[in-house]
Formats: sequence, C-alpha cells, structure tokens
Amino acid sequence: RRHILSLADFTSDEYNAILQTALSFRQVLNSRTKKVPALQGQVVANLFFEASTRTRNSFELAAKRLSADTLNFAPGSSSLSKGETILDTAKTYLAMGTDMMVIRHQQAGVPQAIASEMDRLNTKVSVLNAGDGQHAHPSQALLDLFTICRLLDPDNPRIELLEGKKIAIVGDILHSRVARSNIWSLTAIDAELHLVSSPTLLPQYFKCFGEGRPGKLFLHWELEPALKDADFVMTLRLQRERMTQHLLPSLREYHQYYGITRDRLKLCKPDVKILHPGPVNRGVELSSELMDDPEFSLISQQVTSGVAVRMALLYLIGGGKQE
Ligand code: CP
Repeated sequence: RRHILSLADFTSDEYNAILQTALSFRQVLNSRTKKVPALQGQVVANLFFEASTRTRNSFELAAKRLSADTLNFAPGSSSLSKGETILDTAKTYLAMGTDMMVIRHQQAGVPQAIASEMDRLNTKVSVLNAGDGQHAHPSQALLDLFTICRLLDPDNPRIELLEGKKIAIVGDILHSRVARSNIWSLTAIDAELHLVSSPTLLPQYFKCFGEGRPGKLFLHWELEPALKDADFVMTLRLQRERMTQHLLPSLREYHQYYGITRDRLKLCKPDVKILHPGPVNRGVELSSELMDDPEFSLISQQVTSGVAVRMALLYLIGGGKQE
C-alpha cells in the first residue's frame, strides 16, 4: 500500500499489522532512547491546511522518533496566501525531496487529489490523510482501535478482540470524518456498532455504511437503546464551525438529550469506557467531570496511542522505500 487515504478497503490482517507495529513502537517510546533509526534520511512533510493540535504534533513527533526529517506547513504563513495552488504547493515539497506527505484539509478529497498527482508524476511519494472535510480520518480511527484493543489485551492487541462487543458512537455524526473512519474499522469484525444523535445530525442514509459489512450497524435518535449494555462509548464534538447559524439541537438541547453524564453511564456495562477524539466541548457532549475521570475516560490514552500508531503508519508506508 503506497498511500493511506481511508480505511474503506482495509483487511483484518492490515489492521493487525498496524496494531502489532504500534505496540512495538510503544515499547520504544517507553525506553530510555525513545528513538529508532528506521526512517533516517527520509523527509516527512506535514501539510496542514486546517487547524490541528493532536494530529499535527503527533505525526511530527512520530516522524522524529523514527529519525526522519520533518517539514511543517501552515497556510497563513505560506505562499498559499499569494495565490499558489494546493497542487503546486505539494509539488514544491516534492522538489525538496519529500518522501511522505501528511495532509489535512477542510475539503474532502484533497489528500486523494495530491496522491493521484504524485502517482501521475511517477513519484514514490506516499500520502497519508490526516483528516479531509467530512470524509475520513484514518489515523484517528486506528489510534481509537489501538486504545480499545490494548485495554482488552495489553500484550496482544488485535481487531478480533472486538468480536461480540457493543460500541456506541454519540455526537455530531453528520459532520464527522472520525465517525466515518470508525464505522469502517468497527464493522470490519463481528461487533455491534450503534450510532446515536438527533435526526439533524444522523441522517438515515448512514444505514448504507453497514451494508455488506461483517459487523452490525444500528441507528438511533434516542440515547438509551444505544447505551444499554455498551462496552465502549465514543463521544464526538459538535462541529459548530461546519454548522449553520441556527442549530437544531442547540448546544443546551444537545446536552439535555444526548450529553454523556455519570447517570446515563449507568445504562452501560459497569466497566464501560469513554472515548473522544478531541477537542472536547466540555459540558456539551460529555460532562466535564467524566472527561477527567480515569475510571471511565480513555481520552488521554488516545492521545498517547496516537504517537505510536502514527509511527507504525509512517514506518509501514515509508519503511518499504529503504534500499
Ligand atoms: N482528533 C483530532 O483530529 O484532533 P486535532 O484536530 O487536534 O488534530
């Protein structure tokens, strides 16, 4: 595989290769040196056309821990502001000897368009999608999977551990690339995935994402059936920047009907865990005290997992280029 643009066609073997490689890099990150020379001499360019804290910094740290050289791009201080196009920007990084481009953009399809251009030019450049519009955020879904699987078996994380588990995804599913990527990974095995939100944020067409998948996908406009006996609850941010002015539900209404609170968590299995990709609207999708409660919240562990998982992705995609 040259590029990682979406999880749509990922196999269980590929998921497991990433989980096992991430586990070995987690051990590297916990060692004294924290670094391996795997990608020495390679250049990783982080082209983030849209804001990011976690994804950009963890891709950068992952590349550095693999001994690659890194280039960072911020649109406001780049020649994009003088009218240079996105493709010409990518070609400029190509001309500087970039081996891997990590791309985030507010428009779906930009990483694919750059990957197609790199292929058309017969380059060996790999493109990793770091989140494009509402389409996909594959590295986030992979770090979510790693976090869950490590909890279930710290020494041997594998996707099959999710068989028979019930996972609820609650929040702004309509606008969420994280939800779309998690739907691919969490229906790749025989698990139960329950999507829940207001009808305005969870249109019926999401049903088609479950067609022909090994897992079972359910849609709910009420929270209770989705939470009942759930093993994991993944909460998602209300993406106000992608919404129109008059929100239905409003933030207050959303919290009233769908906010995850300690009381509502009692519907789930007693050892339920909560995930959230961040950033969090504290007190909207999740009560502030639950977010900080280590008994339930895996949010910090997700961020920590992100570095090891992104090391695994850069290594598995870029390692093949080593002579
Ligand atoms: N989860 C996530 O993509 O966070 P950032 O926007 O901070 O990268």
